[in-house]
Amino acid sequence: MRTFRAIHTAIPMSRRTLTFVCQNCGAAFSRWQGKCEACGEWNTLSEEGGERVAGPGRKPAKGRLFALEALAGEAQNAPRLSSGISELDRVTGGGFVRGSVLLVGGDPGIGKSTLLMQATAALARAGHRSVYISGEEAVAQVRLRAERLGLGDAAVELAAETAVADIIATLSEGKTPRLIVIDSIQTMWTDTVDSAPGTVTQVRASAQALIRFAKRSGATIILVGHVTKDGQIAGPRVVEHMVDAVLSFEGEGSHQFRILRAAKNRFGPTDEIGVFEMTGSGLLEVANPSELFLSERDLGRPGTAVFAGIEGTRPLLVEIQALVAPTSLGTPRRAVVGWDPSRLSMVLAVLETHCGVRLAAHDVYLNVAGGMRIQEPAGDVAAAAALVSSLANAPLPAGAVYFGEVSLSGAVRPVAQGAARLKEAAKLGFSRAIAPEAGRGETIEPGGFRVAEIASLANLVADIAALGRAGIAAKTDG
Ligand code: TYD
Ligand code: MG
Repeated sequence: MRTFRAIHTAIPMSRRTLTFVCQNCGAAFSRWQGKCEACGEWNTLSEEGGERVAGPGRKPAKGRLFALEALAGEAQNAPRLSSGISELDRVTGGGFVRGSVLLVGGDPGIGKSTLLMQATAALARAGHRSVYISGEEAVAQVRLRAERLGLGDAAVELAAETAVADIIATLSEGKTPRLIVIDSIQTMWTDTVDSAPGTVTQVRASAQALIRFAKRSGATIILVGHVTKDGQIAGPRVVEHMVDAVLSFEGEGSHQFRILRAAKNRFGPTDEIGVFEMTGSGLLEVANPSELFLSERDLGRPGTAVFAGIEGTRPLLVEIQALVAPTSLGTPRRAVVGWDPSRLSMVLAVLETHCGVRLAAHDVYLNVAGGMRIQEPAGDVAAAAALVSSLANAPLPAGAVYFGEVSLSGAVRPVAQGAARLKEAAKLGFSRAIAPEAGRGETIEPGGFRVAEIASLANLVADIAALGRAGIAAKTDG
């Protein structure tokens, strides 16, 4: 009894626990340390007041009562506003939702500012109030870009500002804007926290203030975010969790094509892509991307196969190029652009093990044309066809498309949306497809389109080898 009393009096009536929270990943620690053990970032821990621990003398505060609602009831469709750019609408899921906040990331110079200037101008032309706030460029620079885009006459409201409090105060005046672009979130600052602009704490606090404003006013806000070397949107990952949608704008600097993808979307799909072409007068929408990705087609050359893919709901034909060449290195090279390197290793292993294709003495290069990135496993068969075609020095039949997933046993497995892939190929003038067996019911298409069904990768290799002048055996022996 005595000991209990001693402990009891040692605890203060009410105390606050202090914790150190990583501003990058949100992990909490009891002591400060230079490196966050959870995410590996340096100097991201900052002190935050923890939860209040109620002492014995303190009555817990009584909560306010609120009404609970039934799940059944009037479902309101989120009111959407078309951006006037249909490829952008496709990615957002049909337009901007009132009060939503989007984060658009991408490498410097990829065209984020161009795309968003085109979107604000399109909305302004449709009679909506739209505002473009640049924290990176002066008003004159933004004007110059707009003029170059032929948008000089659009009623976009411009400002070069970085103070979030001033921006919110200004935009709260008058009619609520339908679209506000903040270019970029890393340049914004708020005096509620005292770290420098661009730091994780500032970015998070600024984003929080802007998100609150969007929810309160119903305006749609687009935040531009810079991307670090390893492809992450710089600043706290928590911003990605706070916003309604995260879009990334991608492309190869040397190509004209730009692809907009949704990495997260609370109001729409995440597998749709928007395709644009960068021209001297801004970004043009590409309504039929297959034609674009095939325009550089090297048909009739060994090592080139056309893959009938699906991106979201849209079929897309892309060209896969392979080069298999004898190596002079002890460990042969495997280099891949636009496809998953571990899938390449898997397809090579299946070719070696089940199809008798020996590649240990060859360098292997694989490239997806046009800066596209293939993510679905259905690309396996097309990649294998390109590889074997290059090795056998046998051009694949002109007018053929390939798709199908390869399993570790060497079987070719069916994939989703076979009919849509075949339809797209027929539409673009192809005459045959090499496809998995269970794509049945589509074997004979009207218009003379032929589907050759293959059960295993070995079938495919035998067919291509038969086409080869030299044949695989001659090249791989010795
Ligand atoms: P920008 O939108 O400023 O990129 P970001 O905001 O992502 O950094 O685009 C810059 C690049 O786009 C620049 O290299 C020039 C090119 N560009 C064109 O090719 N045509 C155009 O009409 C415009 C405005 C830019
Ligand atoms: Mg920019």
